[in-house]
Amino acid sequence: MSESPLFTPIQIGSHTLRNRIVRSATYEGLANSGGLVTPAYQRLYTRLARSGPGALVTGFAYVSQEGRSMQPRQASAADDRNLSAWSEMNREVHREGAVIFLQIAHTGRQTHSGSTGMEVVAPGSKPSRYFRSKPRALRENEIPERVEQFVQAARLAQRAGFDGVQIHAAHGYLIHQFLTPALNRRRDAYGVDPKSGIGTRFLAEVLQGIRDACGSGFGCWVKVSHGDGLRNGMNPHRFEALIRFLQDQPVDAVEVSYGSMDHALNIFRGNSLPLDRIVAYNPRYQIEAPWLAFLWKKLLAPFASLSIKDFEPRYNLKAARRARELGSLPVISVGGFRKTGWSWMRRSDPEAAIWWRFRDP
Ligand SMILES: Cc1cc2nc3c(=O)[nH]c(=O)nc-3n(C[C@H](O)[C@H](O)[C@H](O)COP(=O)(O)O)c2cc1C
Repeated sequence: MSESPLFTPIQIGSHTLRNRIVRSATYEGLANSGGLVTPAYQRLYTRLARSGPGALVTGFAYVSQEGRSMQPRQASAADDRNLSAWSEMNREVHREGAVIFLQIAHTGRQTHSGSTGMEVVAPGSKPSRYFRSKPRALRENEIPERVEQFVQAARLAQRAGFDGVQIHAAHGYLIHQFLTPALNRRRDAYGVDPKSGIGTRFLAEVLQGIRDACGSGFGCWVKVSHGDGLRNGMNPHRFEALIRFLQDQPVDAVEVSYGSMDHALNIFRGNSLPLDRIVAYNPRYQIEAPWLAFLWKKLLAPFASLSIKDFEPRYNLKAARRARELGSLPVISVGGFRKTGWSWMRRSDPEAAIWWRFRDP
């Protein structure tokens, strides 16, 4: 075990991580209904830092009320109200020896006006079955304001003592919606580039804006999906184009995940389909009559499960390795790390940071 590179330090951008274990973003539900982080949220990160990883990434925080998720009690990065709670928390996390990144996100079409109190907007107007919302396609002149929301959230993170931000460009959220041709059919400058096959302009502006506002000492990581299961969506060829694009951007590391919320169970994956949970929490079934939920479970679930990918250990590692081959950007792999038997780790690329999601200590 001791020869594993996992437990050796690594330099990523201007930060030295004490080891290559990164605790990946996991929505906490520990803010109050107005997005203010609570003492329980602060304690969670202090405890996680104490448990030993090199870096922590927080659950996604929203960059604007419009980009808030349907999950309740999500943390807000839309204004300064969390500045002092986050500063206090980050001092503790640093005292425990970990670096900490704030994950920032805008949901785009993956939310509901019932949660945001605002119109749902996206690069295109394709409805989401899961979220039961039909977004309005953003006009070109409305897009720079959304870029600026990411930049302001990053500035806030910097002032609050985070070591950097992780831009959530995965799982079907707004930036992923710009990247994937399945959801971006725009004809303007923010559309899909015919050469690369993906729409990178929005992400490029966010990254440059953050570098200009925060400087190169402030970390900037990006989380992407290597596939999304959408027709004409992210595929291996487009994923490679995305990784090549990121090599030339002001980015310090890329985390390789999978999927979009249209098929949420392919993002996390497990061994069996949690039917009761799906019926209880999936917005598609919550508002149906109980007899419909019952029928769905008995008759339709077997067909629905056909679109769900089987669990395999380390299910995104192959794509992460491919990303590593394509350039020099440090790569974080997430998905299906369930055991502490690390024998496979000795064979792994010593330059790659390896992800491990800690259970709550
Ligand atoms: C409860 C829960 C909350 C999550 N919240 C986030 C999040 O806020 N941001 C994010 O990028 N990924 C989030 N994820 C996805 C994980 O970071 C990870 O990419 C995914 O679960 C695959 O890893 P696993 O196989 O170990 O679950 C969440 C996953 C779970 C189970």
